[in-house]
Amino acid sequence: MNNSMKRIIPLKIERYCKKNTIPESALLHELVAETYASTAFPDMQIGHIEGAFLRMLVHLIRAKRVLELGTFTGYSSLAMAEALPEDGKLITCDIDQEATEIAKKYWSRSPHGKKIELRLGYALETLKTIEGVFDVVFIDADKENYINYWELCIPKTRSGGLLVVDNVLWSGGALDPKDETDRAIAEFNEHVSNDKRVEVVMLPIRDGVSLAWKF
Ligand SMILES: C[S@@+](CC[C@H](N)C(=O)[O-])C[C@H]1O[C@@H](n2cnc3c(N)ncnc32)[C@H](O)[C@@H]1O
Repeated sequence: MNNSMKRIIPLKIERYCKKNTIPESALLHELVAETYASTAFPDMQIGHIEGAFLRMLVHLIRAKRVLELGTFTGYSSLAMAEALPEDGKLITCDIDQEATEIAKKYWSRSPHGKKIELRLGYALETLKTIEGVFDVVFIDADKENYINYWELCIPKTRSGGLLVVDNVLWSGGALDPKDETDRAIAEFNEHVSNDKRVEVVMLPIRDGVSLAWKF
């Protein structure tokens, strides 16, 4: 959620959910503080509850390989890497050198950081170079490309694997599209709900998260 976005979940409810969710690691907590102190749109970070949710999904399906589009300062990468086994691997893609320098600084301080590999560059290009299949794919880069990312990531997701997509409510913009990004998200949601290759549930977590299980 960036600074221009409206909060969907009332703050009081969100605080209560946080209070009753596994705490984030001390390092993730510190990363949130640095992201707020040194970046323009810190709310792009998925944060505590969604981080814990992703972490649980990685545990639940015993994921070993995770692919992420949209690294930013590395919160979601580290949250998922913390749940991966010792020989697990997470590949994450972004174009922002400055934000990912912060990410690398925090990963290097974590025993789980060695599981993370950053690929700098446009995700559409990077995806062409990534081989193998993944247990979990997390899509959280530029919203206008969500359908393209979905189509490129479906073949890279193993049968029984998960695709998780962030910002599918887009502050409610998806329900009543007014601009290009609202429309991109609305079209993406329709695309996914008609996709017979997956079973999908849209969850009102943070800015909306779609969870798809690939047949
Ligand atoms: C919402 S943020 C990701 C937040 C991150 N998952 C977290 O939890 O901190 C979206 C990121 O996508 C990146 N991005 C935007 N367009 C991109 C593109 N075409 N290819 C790769 N990354 C892109 C941005 O630089 C930004 O860091």
